[in-house]
Amino acid sequence: MPTMAVMTGIQASGKSTFCRAYLSEYVRINLDTLHTRNKENSAMEEAFCAGKNMVIDNTNPTAEERRKYIFKAKEHGYKVVGYFMQSRVQECIARNELREGKAKVPAKAIAATSHKLELPSCKEGFDELYFVCMTDAGMAVEKWKTPDSFCRGGEENQDEL
Ligand SMILES: Nc1ncnc2c1ncn2[C@@H]1O[C@H](COP(=O)(O)OP(=O)(O)OP(=O)(O)O)[C@@H](O)[C@H]1O
Ligand SMILES: [Mg+2]
Repeated sequence: MPTMAVMTGIQASGKSTFCRAYLSEYVRINLDTLHTRNKENSAMEEAFCAGKNMVIDNTNPTAEERRKYIFKAKEHGYKVVGYFMQSRVQECIARNELREGKAKVPAKAIAATSHKLELPSCKEGFDELYFVCMTDAGMAVEKWKTPDSFCRGGEENQDEL
């Protein structure tokens, strides 16, 4: 079954870096580079038609913003996997400061995204959810552990809470 991965994370939290490192074979759907919703939809349709794995590499901070991607993925028989970038606003702002040109966004925009950030939940339709943490050694990917959002193997994981 092909997979759609949906990223959630504020600007400069490392989403695109994660995609390059872990999902390099996936078609990357990124609104900043595609520019318009029309082009985004076309790129998604093309990937769906070819049955390719794809990753939605936007900030996707709210359930509302994630909903349409999850809906489309399910409609096409895809598995939907969510990756949440654990991040501290000040660290993201600091990393953003090091960026050049268009890649650099106003610090206020990062704070605004942070304020509306909603943790993803399996209730949204995710089949699997993961935390991604940046460590000195690089990125670490962990299975989601919040009680309301067990996806698979919830029963056996209850012990870990
Ligand atoms: N493990 C890491 N440790 C420290 N810095 C990192 C790490 N991974 C990526 N970075 C740096 O953090 C910055 C942000 O990464 P990235 O561009 O992947 O974020 P993003 O979430 O895709 O941001 P945006 O939403 O603006 O596209 C980059 O400058 C990148 O070099
Ligand atoms: Mg990015």
